[in-house]
Amino acid sequence: MKKIFVTSQYPGESVKHLSQKYDVSVYPKATLPTREEFLENAKGCSGLITTVADVVDKKVIDLCPELQIVSNSAVGYENVDIPYATKKGILVTNTPNVLTETTADLAWALMFSVARRIVQADGYVREGNFTCWHPSLLLGMNIHGSTLGVYGLGRIGTAVANRAQGFNMRVIYQNRSRNEKAESETGGQYVDFETLLKESDFIVITAPLTDDTRGKFGYEEFRKMKPTSIIVNVGRGPIIKERELAEALKEGEIWGAGLDVFEDEPKVDSELLLAPNALLTPHIGSASIETREKMIDMAVTSVELALGGEVPKHLVNPEVLDSN
Ligand code: GLV
Repeated sequence: MKKIFVTSQYPGESVKHLSQKYDVSVYPKATLPTREEFLENAKGCSGLITTVADVVDKKVIDLCPELQIVSNSAVGYENVDIPYATKKGILVTNTPNVLTETTADLAWALMFSVARRIVQADGYVREGNFTCWHPSLLLGMNIHGSTLGVYGLGRIGTAVANRAQGFNMRVIYQNRSRNEKAESETGGQYVDFETLLKESDFIVITAPLTDDTRGKFGYEEFRKMKPTSIIVNVGRGPIIKERELAEALKEGEIWGAGLDVFEDEPKVDSELLLAPNALLTPHIGSASIETREKMIDMAVTSVELALGGEVPKHLVNPEVLDSN
């Protein structure tokens, strides 16, 4: 019987169904496996169902000569050594689309929470400080009528931009290339990077991590943004230089930040942890019950297809088919 290792537990029944046909082991703890545990469990597997936090590198791949598929339960897949997997004839799949709207929801939750200081306001009440209403209490920024700058107008960026229509916002964006289809859907206007920095009241990062996007936002970029502006990152952590963001926040170069992803997860820069105008969430972009069920369903389907000799739908390394 072919072996499959699932590195974490998921809501729903799909992994159970997989167990009827394959020898499936699911990492039993509420955390992810350590590197050693991952290597131990992956040994001899034909399929792996992984998360963005599981590193599938040359060592893992070499340890699993039977490996046919790495099914990454995430839209991103920079945790997998794609060139090496491809060289070894291993299919790699992801779970796009199902998490788009949920991640866009979180981007907006961060925008609102930072702009209106929701977490601080909650703490204020709970700590017994609400003894008297005052007109200058916890003042924030307006979202309605402001300019939203989307960095990366792909699926998630488009979903973020679509929501802006309900708030009477101007939408501008920067992307590898113009996305005319998304422009007509969202009313977004393509601008260069400098304009995005200068004119946005909110910049939401939804781009993937690439050589071009890595370290794209540092102190110099924050200095070009409005001192009243807010940056939100639901894309990938290393797109922002975290220490430089902490500095820019401290010096009032920008007004606030909402981050769901970090440069070196699960670590967070110590200065950023001290910044009162930064709101930090632990990479929960797709973390709704319904969406996580859909993601694991999709990941399981990919494994079933691959092990059954078919081509899964969300193959991220289609060039592997040429070598097989
Ligand atoms: C999460 O970060 C994902 O890539 O799905």
